Amino acid sequence: MTRKITANLYMTIDGRGEFPKYPGWDQPTGDRDEPDEFFRRMWNDRYDDVTTVVMGRRSFTGHRRVHSLKGRKPNDPKFLFEYSRFLDKVEKVCLSHRLKNLNWENSRLMKGDLRKIVAKLKSEKGGNIIIEGGPRLISEVIRLDLADDYWFLVMPVVFGRGPRYWAPLKEQTTLKLLSATPMKFGELVLHYGAVR
Ligand SMILES: NC(=O)c1ccc[n+]([C@@H]2O[C@H](COP(=O)([O-])OP(=O)(O)OC[C@H]3O[C@@H](n4cnc5c(N)ncnc54)[C@H](OP(=O)(O)O)[C@@H]3O)[C@@H](O)[C@H]2O)c1
Repeated sequence: MTRKITANLYMTIDGRGEFPKYPGWDQPTGDRDEPDEFFRRMWNDRYDDVTTVVMGRRSFTGHRRVHSLKGRKPNDPKFLFEYSRFLDKVEKVCLSHRLKNLNWENSRLMKGDLRKIVAKLKSEKGGNIIIEGGPRLISEVIRLDLADDYWFLVMPVVFGRGPRYWAPLKEQTTLKLLSATPMKFGELVLHYGAVR
């Protein structure tokens, strides 16, 4: 079976890869131990079918610091412990030219042409694959049309600075809307599929 590729994007309205503050940004939408709709659909619903998570160097080191089980704080919500257990367990692919030691279990280093990297991963045995940023990596995924579907969290902020998802592209990419879900604090969860 072909391994499905999903790309995850968190961005402000102006397409910046930042996590700004806005009313409600730090409040749980319900029980604090339960994920919100976005997190559930992007992560919890995928714990059984995804076996590989691909990250750029910055995203990888950031996740290792904050989201590995070693990085968890004792009073973090339960769903984040579950997320860390998932991340520790899956195969993690870190893209980097400069990192030598990954210092996170089940991790491997890859580098070079992203199209070839994705083709190689798809040729290997395993479940589905999530590409988890950051912005530079995701805009390359979009440019090369490498993902089968995309989850966007659009936060209700025009931020005006920070890494951009949308670098100039020579050609447009047209996607198919699969679902659009407004969240309690003004965020929008958008699920798009690739048009093949
Ligand atoms: N999910 C997320 O990670 C996420 C989401 C939103 C915002 N952000 C924010 O965005 C910022 C990071 O931005 P970013 O877009 O620069 O991060 P990134 O995509 O995680 O990391 C970029 C680095 O990945 C490596 N890389 C990417 N493609 C490669 C390839 N094909 N071959 C070899 N190496 C490759 C390069 O590392 P080397 O320099 O080692 O070669 C490159 O400098 C952070 O401040 C973070 O807070 C992240």
